[in-house]
Amino acid sequence: MDIAAFRRHFWHVFNGPKRNAPVDALLDHKAHLSLDLCPDMPGMLSIRKQRLLNLSFSLIPEGQAYFEVGTYMGKSLISAMIHNPVRTVYAAGNFSEFDDNSLETLQENLSRYGMLHRVQFLNADFQKSYTPEFLREPIGLYFYDGAHDLESQYLGIKRVEPYLADEALIFVDDWRHGPDSLSHAKSGTLQAMPESTHQWKLLYELPARYNGDLGMWWNGVGVLSFQREAPMQVAI
Ligand SMILES: C[S@@+](CC[C@H](N)C(=O)[O-])C[C@H]1O[C@@H](n2cnc3c(N)ncnc32)[C@H](O)[C@@H]1O
Repeated sequence: MDIAAFRRHFWHVFNGPKRNAPVDALLDHKAHLSLDLCPDMPGMLSIRKQRLLNLSFSLIPEGQAYFEVGTYMGKSLISAMIHNPVRTVYAAGNFSEFDDNSLETLQENLSRYGMLHRVQFLNADFQKSYTPEFLREPIGLYFYDGAHDLESQYLGIKRVEPYLADEALIFVDDWRHGPDSLSHAKSGTLQAMPESTHQWKLLYELPARYNGDLGMWWNGVGVLSFQREAPMQVAI
């Protein structure tokens, strides 16, 4: 993933300095639906977050993959892939949270959008997904939206690193911590990043006023870049 290109597109599409300004017209259900890329299904994203995924997926180069942890009913997955070039897609989820998500619902939704055959899905705890058998292509874009406890968030960064492309873009969802969001997305991620011998950077913190903010970035998103350092040459 070309991070410099992503930043240019991001700045242009989201109006740079105004990227975090609330657009309260989008709190109106009808207005929101009119812009939704897959309005026939529920999910946990605002229009801006949906566009962010869609734009970023469009920038994944050939030979690199998209990997999503925490699919719920598939709305973020479909939002990322829709109208975009075909790329390898890995996803993992275990439907352990919320009563209304299941493998059948996810598969029905993906089928309706003609995407079922394009997604390699692991129905298991996300920690089981970081294997060379499952993640066979380097990950150019990684979206973590699974469990948000501290340990999971920390491991969600630590474990993915070997599978990332040499340059990769990472979104960590539910970045916001507050009375209505007990998410440790930010603290777990910031704990893992400095332990790496490679270069991680926090590019943007995209905020929300509350969990489910349709006029901003839903519950906040952390946007990170990853750059693999070449192994050090030892002179003898
Ligand atoms: C916030 S929802 C994802 C929302 C979805 N990305 C969207 O935008 O519509 C989190 C999902 O992660 C799943 N999940 C939670 N803990 C998990 C774990 N340890 N392993 C795999 N999936 C998990 C939940 O069951 C749920 O489907």
